[in-house]
Amino acid sequence: MDSGDLLYSAGHEIFGLPKRDRDLTALKANLFLQTYNLMGYDAFTPGEVDLSWGIAELKKMSQKAKFAFLLANLQDLKTKKPVFRPYLIKEKGGIRVGLFGLLSNRFSGSLDPHDKAAYRLTDPLEAARQVIGELKKKKSKVIIAITHMDESEQRKLAETFREVYFVVSGHERGLKRQPVEVNNAQILTAGTRGEYLGQMEFFLKEKPDETRLLSNYQIITLRDFYKDHPQTAKLVNQFRADSKPLHFAEKKNGSPEKDPWMQKGTYAYPVSDYMGGASCLSCHQPQHENWKKTGHAKAYQTLVGEKRERDHTCLPCHTTGFGEVSGFGDVLENVQCESCHGPGRGHPEDGKKLPPVGEKQCLLCHNPAKSPNFDYAPSLTKVRCPASK
Ligand code: HEC
Ligand code: HEC
Ligand code: HEC
Ligand code: HEC
Repeated sequence: MDSGDLLYSAGHEIFGLPKRDRDLTALKANLFLQTYNLMGYDAFTPGEVDLSWGIAELKKMSQKAKFAFLLANLQDLKTKKPVFRPYLIKEKGGIRVGLFGLLSNRFSGSLDPHDKAAYRLTDPLEAARQVIGELKKKKSKVIIAITHMDESEQRKLAETFREVYFVVSGHERGLKRQPVEVNNAQILTAGTRGEYLGQMEFFLKEKPDETRLLSNYQIITLRDFYKDHPQTAKLVNQFRADSKPLHFAEKKNGSPEKDPWMQKGTYAYPVSDYMGGASCLSCHQPQHENWKKTGHAKAYQTLVGEKRERDHTCLPCHTTGFGEVSGFGDVLENVQCESCHGPGRGHPEDGKKLPPVGEKQCLLCHNPAKSPNFDYAPSLTKVRCPASK
């Protein structure tokens, strides 16, 4: 199962997104759909980013999917019925498993303006109460909630309904190797970008006087030694070929002057706190000299070499402040000073001191999926800056 922001993960400010980026995202959404079909997924609960592309679009996608789109609390205002399937019962290993999907109603604002008039995200706890009732009536032994909401909302769900055994967490972007236990339930958070797979095995121990559920959870890091499936590899290659003209379209097309929304004055580019490494050079020459010799200074070139420099799944770790730098399609190339030292606006002129660099900062990029042999102390000696004179 998948807990959302899957199909349309990139650039959710779709109203301001250049056509090229929208086309690219649509191609990618199709790729995900087809590969999920191949992998035999059972269920997917859309996130707010998926919804922001329009409910009509999402319905079309659901018709092409061999897995269920589960969402119990998105209501069609006219019919008062859920737009997608609220739940699904699967018989696995002789156990009836009930799955249902929820999306936080905090995200009502993410609906497309047209959709706001026709659909509503209702109270997830209320929707859960109804669905759980039905799942119990239909004799589900194990109930799993696929949720796209924040941690406090997931806890609330687990605290309210002791019938829920597992809460599959979406929206929270972290990775938790162990389930978080709340009441009767375990909350499972399995990372992003397809880098990890959460695997839950469970079995029921039924005695005349009591039934107990035993479970075993592990996170599988999807490293390179898992070879590509030939059919998926074919789809990915097809995607690369189809998206090539979009990836390598002239960068100028995405510049603010040509962005129609900019011209209409409806979109203001946010001011970024990232200044770019060039701004540090005048005062910190020795550190700059040292940095230039590290692999960090050519991390973007690596993507260019791979022809992946517009791929949103690669950019976060091969550029600086990805997603927080102003302008669509703008990136600060390479792992620059501020990747480790944090955004520099205000330093030194407003007396802002930059925080010390620690292992945590490195692990944002040197994670087990992408940097399996990362060892902090010896790595640090290779890239740390020299002291100022
Ligand atoms: C924003 C993401 C990011 C952060 C933060 C980051 N790295 Fe890296 N690092 C990379 C990437 C990407 C590469 C590969 C560069 C390439 O060759 O394309 C790399 C390469 C390296 C290398 C091998 C290249 C060399 O020059 O020897 C070392 C060592 C390294 N990083 C250490 C660290 C340490 C230590 C930290 C924390 C203090 C850190 N990195 C923080 C992304 C990051
Ligand atoms: C989670 C952060 C992260 C993401 C996302 C990421 N990389 Fe990297 N990449 C790294 C780090 C860190 C290294 C340094 C390798 C190491 O530590 O073993 C690296 C190294 C590389 C290297 C080897 C560079 C060299 O010359 O040794 C290539 C090639 C590469 N990445 C390509 C990609 C591509 C293509 C994507 C997108 C599909 C991608 N990376 C996404 C963090 C990331
Ligand atoms: C891979 C992470 C990383 C990158 C990239 C990086 N630094 Fe550093 N820098 C460090 C670490 C680690 C230290 C040691 C001090 C600390 O732990 O905060 C340091 C220290 C410094 C210091 C303080 C030196 C002193 O006198 O103690 C300055 C100034 C500095 N860096 C500037 C820069 C500039 C400018 C760039 C970009 C050209 C840059 N750094 C890029 C990790 C990094
Ligand atoms: C106009 C000069 C100037 C510029 C530009 C500048 N710095 Fe500094 N930086 C300083 C001075 C001066 C100090 C020493 C401050 C102190 O000791 O109180 C310093 C200290 C630092 C330190 C040590 C920690 C601290 O805050 O005291 C780091 C790290 C650092 N600078 C990184 C950067 C980075 C990264 C940039 C670019 C985004 C940058 N600096 C731009 C002048 C500058």
